[in-house]
Amino acid sequence: MRRVVLPLLSGLALSACAPHELGDDRARMAEEAQARSEILADRFQKELLSALTAAMAAEGPQGAIGVCSSIAPALAAQLSEESGASVRRTALKTRNPAAKADAAEQRVMASWAAAPIDDEGRPKRWTAREGGEYRYMRAIPTMPMCLACHGENIAPEVTAAIRAHYPEDQATGFAPGQLRGAFSIRWEDAALARAIRNGGGGQ
Ligand code: HEC
Repeated sequence: MRRVVLPLLSGLALSACAPHELGDDRARMAEEAQARSEILADRFQKELLSALTAAMAAEGPQGAIGVCSSIAPALAAQLSEESGASVRRTALKTRNPAAKADAAEQRVMASWAAAPIDDEGRPKRWTAREGGEYRYMRAIPTMPMCLACHGENIAPEVTAAIRAHYPEDQATGFAPGQLRGAFSIRWEDAALARAIRNGGGGQ
């Protein structure tokens, strides 16, 4: 008798609990993905800005283009490798064609184009579970220091240097406050689970 009842009972218990537990698990994973993505986007932004600021001061915008074109992809690769997530920048109008937005990124950035900053003055965020992944995006607004390379009146020698690296450049004509692009971070389930197991806050 026991042998029959026990599996039956545990089967019942499982079917009653599983959907609930699965929901809790998903919610926890979504929270983890968001918290870790926030840290990754902060680091990407901070490290890139300090490298860019130093290069601009030392070499001016023309020289800083080389720094930007080598440091930005290297940082994205390093943060991806360390975290297990896919970390990159994207835009509606790209300089590097590799930054071209996928359908979800296009949709989200189009909804931010008019106002990339929220009521509290923070860049807008988006999170979702899509295509079996946890996704995170954060708006990158245009700041005055970006105009030397992304603005309306770019010096001719800077334009020439940009064109030499990026013949398909579309990322000019921006004004301060406009949406320039976004950080875009994606977590596959296995990568996120591994990151959680390894501990730390995504650093
Ligand atoms: C010295 C010139 C320079 C300055 C100043 C500059 N950028 Fe860029 N930007 C570049 C280059 C070069 C790339 C292409 C980098 C690459 O190959 O990934 C780029 C790419 C980007 C991208 C990735 C998407 C794309 O279009 O390829 C974003 C987003 C971006 N810049 C935002 C900014 C913001 C925001 C600022 C101001 C804080 C800024 N940039 C200042 C030169 C510059």
